[in-house]
Amino acid sequence: MTLESETVLSNSSSLCSYQIYLEVAVFVLLLALFKKWINGGTVTKRRDLTNEVIIVTGGNSGIGFETCKDLVKNGARVILATRNEQRGQRAVDELNKIRPNSTEFMKLDLGDLTSVRLFANEFKSKYNKLNCLINNAGIAAISKRILTKDGFESQIGTNHFGHFLLTHLLFDVLKSTPQFRVINVSSRSHIRFCINLDDINFERTPYYRFVAYSASKIANILFTQQLQKNIQDKNLNGKTVSLHPGAVKTEIGSHFSYYKLVYPFILPFALLFLKSPKAGAQTTLQCVYEDFNKLEGGKYYVDCKVTPTANKENITPQNAQKLWDLSVKLLKL
Ligand SMILES: NC(=O)c1ccc[n+]([C@@H]2O[C@H](COP(=O)([O-])OP(=O)(O)OC[C@H]3O[C@@H](n4cnc5c(N)ncnc54)[C@H](OP(=O)(O)O)[C@@H]3O)[C@@H](O)[C@H]2O)c1
Repeated sequence: MTLESETVLSNSSSLCSYQIYLEVAVFVLLLALFKKWINGGTVTKRRDLTNEVIIVTGGNSGIGFETCKDLVKNGARVILATRNEQRGQRAVDELNKIRPNSTEFMKLDLGDLTSVRLFANEFKSKYNKLNCLINNAGIAAISKRILTKDGFESQIGTNHFGHFLLTHLLFDVLKSTPQFRVINVSSRSHIRFCINLDDINFERTPYYRFVAYSASKIANILFTQQLQKNIQDKNLNGKTVSLHPGAVKTEIGSHFSYYKLVYPFILPFALLFLKSPKAGAQTTLQCVYEDFNKLEGGKYYVDCKVTPTANKENITPQNAQKLWDLSVKLLKL
């Protein structure tokens, strides 16, 4: 081989490796842009939350934990309300590392109305104001029809009735706090099925896990609309909104059968196609940080913006009133 042909060969092989680097760089850039698109909208501004008291239900994991982190960084006093003391305390320790004495754990099991009452009493014995209640906790797609301690189907019992009672019991503190907010974390799953207000606990109709989840998330939106109407009718200085956080990589799917078995196989897809928990917290945070005057009470937010709900058949003022009356009756309020 001549010197000339050796030079040509080495030039073409370095050209080839440059091309590979370039291709990898373009691939990584495209991947990053795709992930940014998947992660969706982000909070546009923040405000100082010093002296504000905020309850986050289900604040120990997923979207709730990321929400707490941001609130703590911005000065809020956070009450982490969740059922598992050990997991709750671990999250509180993490949050207090971000800002010492910022967060307190208070036990709350939304599937047990006695626990909800005990929580409300404990909170009111310690605090005389509540700037924001974030009804975030939730369970999804429970495979069998199981009942809460008080006889409600578990998903509607936890996701709706538990939060309904909690909001009701805390309402005197909320309404005495100027510009109070109630933020209800619903889901886009509300568009898939319907809510049967004549058989809310699936006593006479067959139970399907996704139908029950969807119904509980429709209930979150109906509750928001009726609560906002009541706030307005009584001329109170507060607002309530509901939201969809996006499809987020959290522990919410851990109830699925074979979850542990299939998890390693779906992980790469989950990492690519699902929002990170931090991204999933953005819409909740937008509703906390938005100027009070600009927050649109009663509305449903997606990706940090007001979005029309697509389930027009089920999301009606009549259903909102009917669910409210049913909840008052079944909870004996
Ligand atoms: N992830 C998504 O793709 C997605 C999409 C749409 C809507 N959402 C909604 O987002 C919210 C947060 O879910 P996530 O995805 O962050 O799930 P997650 O990581 O499983 O968090 C759910 C939280 O709720 C708590 N919780 C469950 N049952 C409770 C009960 N009976 N009493 C008190 N706390 C209870 C859990 O506490 P434990 O640790 O004790 O279980 C946990 O802290 C839910 O309302 C969910 O419906 C999620």
